[in-house]
Amino acid sequence: MLCDLLLFFSLFNFSSGFLIPELQNVHLYVSPTGSDLNVGTDASNPMRTLHRAIQRISEPDIQNKNIWIELMEGYHDLNSTLVINHRNDYRRITIRAYQNQKVHVTGGKRIPSNQFTKVTDPSILQRLSPEAQKHVLQTKLSDAGITDIGQIVPYGKYILRQAPLEIFENGFPLTLSRWPNYGFINITNVPSGHRYSTVFQYNSDRPKKWANQSDIWVYGY
Ligand SMILES: *[C@@H]1O[C@H](CO)[C@@H](O)[C@H](O)[C@H]1NC(C)=O
Ligand SMILES: *[C@@H]1O[C@H](CO)[C@@H](O)[C@H](O)[C@H]1NC(C)=O
Ligand SMILES: *[C@@H]1O[C@H](CO)[C@@H](O)[C@H](O)[C@H]1NC(C)=O
Repeated sequence: MLCDLLLFFSLFNFSSGFLIPELQNVHLYVSPTGSDLNVGTDASNPMRTLHRAIQRISEPDIQNKNIWIELMEGYHDLNSTLVINHRNDYRRITIRAYQNQKVHVTGGKRIPSNQFTKVTDPSILQRLSPEAQKHVLQTKLSDAGITDIGQIVPYGKYILRQAPLEIFENGFPLTLSRWPNYGFINITNVPSGHRYSTVFQYNSDRPKKWANQSDIWVYGY
């Protein structure tokens, strides 16, 4: 009887946390304007990247402490997948906005509007309709630090694949350049009469402007 009672108490103690020591808290500060050379434990000398903060967690001076990663105001643009390996570790790791500051964690890069200029290259302009010409802007992605654009591939519609790089304007995804902008034009004739023929006719001059392009996509049925 006594033995049962002891067992009961020790289980109770464990589940209510008495056997787990209270851990100290450490705050690590990360700011887009910080430096990864900083140790990051002081809000006035933050680290720069979330990746560095995650790496920092397992360094000897803060092992066995609960970690609060405090993200400071601004855009934290991740340049690769953030991997948090937190197995066999009973401390708590919290990533949050420091003092409710306005924090964005993104996988993208922002291109400020002042990096866009008007299109002046005549060979590009002649592809555009006269009404559109003065409205089309261009930018050099490499100037914004974007050097790997991967490959643009079809996705969705029964094709299970990760979406390729996309461009967002003020939070909304842009469509690839296309015509017509909405809907479809009709196929007017398939000369071979064969269902799977890739030669077909349509009633428009518009696609002629893109005649020299070598990577045209057509979608239809
Ligand atoms: C990400 O940026 C860090 C510097 O912040 C750099 O050391 C690292 O090589 C970059 N990783 C990739 C995949 O570009
Ligand atoms: C395509 O053909 C259909 C049926 O003939 C017609 O109703 C529709 O208006 C046509 N669409 C265009 C864009 O010409
Ligand atoms: C295609 O390229 C040729 C030769 O460079 C040029 O003369 C012609 O204007 C171009 N046409 C279009 C539609 O871009």
